[in-house]
Amino acid sequence: VVDIRKLYGQAGMFTFDPGFTSTASCESALTYIDGDEGVLLHRGYPIGQLAENSSFMEVSYLLLNGELPSKEELETFEFTISRHTMLHEQLRTFYQGFRRDAHPMAIMCGVVGALSAFYHDSTDISDPLQRKIASHRLIAKMPTIAAMAFKYAVGQPFLYPDNSLSYTGNFLRMTFGVPAEEYEVIPAVEKAMDRIFILHADHEQNASTSTVRLAGSSGANPFACIAAGIACLWGPAHGGANEAALNMLKEIGTPDKIPHYIERAKDKNDPFRLMGFGHRVYKNYDPRATVMQSTVREVFEALKVDDPLFETALRLEEIALSDPYFVEKKLFPNVDFYSGIILNAIGFPTTMFTVLFALARTVGWVAQWNEMISDPGQKIGRPRQLYTGPTQRDYIPLDKR
Ligand code: ACO
Repeated sequence: VVDIRKLYGQAGMFTFDPGFTSTASCESALTYIDGDEGVLLHRGYPIGQLAENSSFMEVSYLLLNGELPSKEELETFEFTISRHTMLHEQLRTFYQGFRRDAHPMAIMCGVVGALSAFYHDSTDISDPLQRKIASHRLIAKMPTIAAMAFKYAVGQPFLYPDNSLSYTGNFLRMTFGVPAEEYEVIPAVEKAMDRIFILHADHEQNASTSTVRLAGSSGANPFACIAAGIACLWGPAHGGANEAALNMLKEIGTPDKIPHYIERAKDKNDPFRLMGFGHRVYKNYDPRATVMQSTVREVFEALKVDDPLFETALRLEEIALSDPYFVEKKLFPNVDFYSGIILNAIGFPTTMFTVLFALARTVGWVAQWNEMISDPGQKIGRPRQLYTGPTQRDYIPLDKR
C-alpha cells in the first residue's frame, strides 16, 4: 500500500500491484482455481470430469448459463449456435486484403474486430437479448473465421459451414476438407479436438479475459472487445505459448539435448524460458496439462502416428521436475506444454495453435463480458498508477533549451 500523500503531496491511498499478482478486479461465479492444489472448476464442476464426460457445446452452455443443460436445452443451444455459423459474404473479400503469409492471429484480430461493423444491433449492450445474440454469434462464427484464416494461408478455397455436423466436426471439415471431396470426420480426432476446446474454454481473470473485461467496461462493442482479447492472447507469455512450446521442442529435438536447454532456462542472463512451463496461478501441476498428456496418446492411436517429440516432452518434464530450480520456483507444465503435439499430429501448422485457443476461449470471454455487464455495480475499469516522472516545472521556450 502506497501513501501517495507522502510521495507527491496528493490525496488518497492505493495498492501498487504491477501485474495484478494479488489484486482481484471483479467478482465472478464462472471459474474457480486453486493454484496450490492444482484445482480448476467451471461453475463448480472439475475440469477433469468435464473433459472426460462433457462436450464443448455443453461446457459453453454451462459457462453462459450457470447450470448444465437438460437434453432439450442442449439440443436447442446447439441448434441456435449452428444457425449463426455463416459469415457475411462481404467478409470473404476482407481476407483478400491480407498477405498470404500473414500470421493467422493477425487475421483473427482484424476479422473479429471488423465484425463490429456488421452488427450494429449488438451495440445496445444494455439489452440482455442482444448480448445473448452477440455471444452466440461470436461462439458460432469463430470456427468459420479460424478455418478461413487457415484456408487463406494455404491458398485453398473457403468452405461454407456444414451445420449437419457437430460444432467441432464442422470446424475440422472447414479446415481440412477440400471442395468436391468428401471429408470424413474421424470420431477420435473430433473428440480430442473438442476436449482441447473444453480445456481452453475459460480460466478466470487471465490477461486476455481481463483485457476483454477492461475493453467492455467502457461499453464498447462486444466484437471489438473480443478482438482486443485475441490481441492479448497472441503474446508468447499467454496463448502464444503453445506455438512457442512446440517450436522449442522441435529445437531441442532429441532427449540428449535437454540438459543444455534446462541450463539455459535457469541462466538469468539468457532470455530463454521453458515454454509451456510455469503459471501465474498454478504452483502445482496444471490439471489441464494432465488431460492433455493423456489425449496425446489417444490421438496417436486413432491416427496411427507417433511423434518422437512426445518422448522429448515427457523426458523434459521429468528432468525439469527433478531439478531444484523448477521445484523451488514451483514451475510445472501448463496447458500449452502438450497441446502442440496433439495439434501437430492432427495436421495444424504451429501458427494456427493460438487461433484454436482463441476459438475456444471465446466462450469464456463472452461469458465473462456478460457477467460484467449484468452486474448493476459495474464500473469502467480504470487502474491508478504510481507516478515516477518529474515534479511540476515551468515551460522553457525552444531557443532557451
Ligand atoms: N522457464 C524458466 N524459468 C521460469 C519460467 C520458465 N518457463 N517461468 C518462470 N520462471 C522463473 C522466472 O525467471 C522467475 O525467476 P526469478 O524469481 O528468479 O526471477 C520465477 O520463475 C517466477 O516467474 P515470473 O515470470 O515472475 O512469473 P509470472 O507469474 O509473472 O509468469 C508465466 C508466469 C508468464 C506463465 C511464466 O511462467 C512464463 O513465462 N512461462 C513460459 C511461457 C508460458 O508457458 N506461458 C503460458 C502460460 S499459460 C496460458 O497462458 C494458457
